[in-house]
Amino acid sequence: MIRCLVPDLPTADELLPWLQRIDANRWYTNGGPLVREFEQRLGGLVGGGLSCVTLSSGMSALELGLAALGIGEGRRVLLPALTFPATALAVARCGAEPVLCDVADDTWTLTPSIAREALAHGRVDAVMPVACFGCPLPADAWDGFVRDTGVPVLADAAAALGLQQVGRRVHWAFSLHATKPVGVGEGGLFVSADEALAEAVRRLSNFSFEHFVVQSRHGTNAKMSEYAAAVGLAQLARWPRLLQRRREVFEDYRARLAALPQVGMQPLAVPPATFSVRLPADAAAAAAALAEAQIETRRWYLPPLNRHPAFGGLRCIGPAGGDRLPVTEALATTLLGLPFHSRLTAEDIATVVDALAAALRASTSA
Ligand SMILES: Cc1ncc(COP(=O)(O)O)c(C=O)c1O
Repeated sequence: MIRCLVPDLPTADELLPWLQRIDANRWYTNGGPLVREFEQRLGGLVGGGLSCVTLSSGMSALELGLAALGIGEGRRVLLPALTFPATALAVARCGAEPVLCDVADDTWTLTPSIAREALAHGRVDAVMPVACFGCPLPADAWDGFVRDTGVPVLADAAAALGLQQVGRRVHWAFSLHATKPVGVGEGGLFVSADEALAEAVRRLSNFSFEHFVVQSRHGTNAKMSEYAAAVGLAQLARWPRLLQRRREVFEDYRARLAALPQVGMQPLAVPPATFSVRLPADAAAAAAALAEAQIETRRWYLPPLNRHPAFGGLRCIGPAGGDRLPVTEALATTLLGLPFHSRLTAEDIATVVDALAAALRASTSA
């Protein structure tokens, strides 16, 4: 079986020196020395002069980021229908209303121009663009959106840590889940140029304590432990090699897929977190054909949010203010996540692309 996603985290040997530091420190959580060192190094990864707050998950980075921005009851937050459900769940858990919009046909992301059009058709109090499958968002364009509209933006770049350079007006949430390129198991990261906002997120992650007095009902326990930071520090040391390997796998795929021009891809300058392609036909049939050939695929971010029972009644603002989301609807039937991870061999990639070509031939002759 060619697996769809195989995490690539530090080995026990790579972890040992960091675990020995925990032994020596006897400090296990609550902003310990490894967490502080990890946050400092993450600052170097995302771009200088920013505040980094490590958390227990990407979802908590989203939820606490929104809470710190004052997004609660009665507020509307615009987000794409094509995303992992945590984007909308974070809004709902703050007591606010997720409002769904469409994505661009090329990047499959919510763009500043889609957000501007939505603003013209309904009230929106914050925007959450999503780095779809790890495709980096245009940080400068989103900074321009905040400058021009005054509407706060919390970018859900869950899958894009190590790939996304961040801007200064937008706030950023990343995941360090094992399936993400820079993974620790479970973990999250909030990044902002606004030091006070980052401190508010940090406070919320520790019960909202200020001298052990609770400041907010959004307070929770979402801190990162020293053990997760140890994995993160070991992972950052191997990240340049891992990124290089992911680049090679992606370039190999790209070269072989050039023979199938009917297969659509995001315009990517970096290897994505997961690799979804747009097929000219029903992706479910291709997934079944690949499964027959012992190739595992996933339909990441599908179904779209408005087809989950929990989100069925959500307000949608589509093109020209209508409630249809045509690009998302088309992608819902045609996106297929191919195997993509650092351990794929050239032979695996050739096998996947050959099987995909055969499935597409079968669908056109059927
Ligand atoms: C787009 C997006 N947002 C949020 C999350 C949630 O991250 P976590 O699993 O770390 O809570 C994910 C996780 O896959 C994601 O893909």
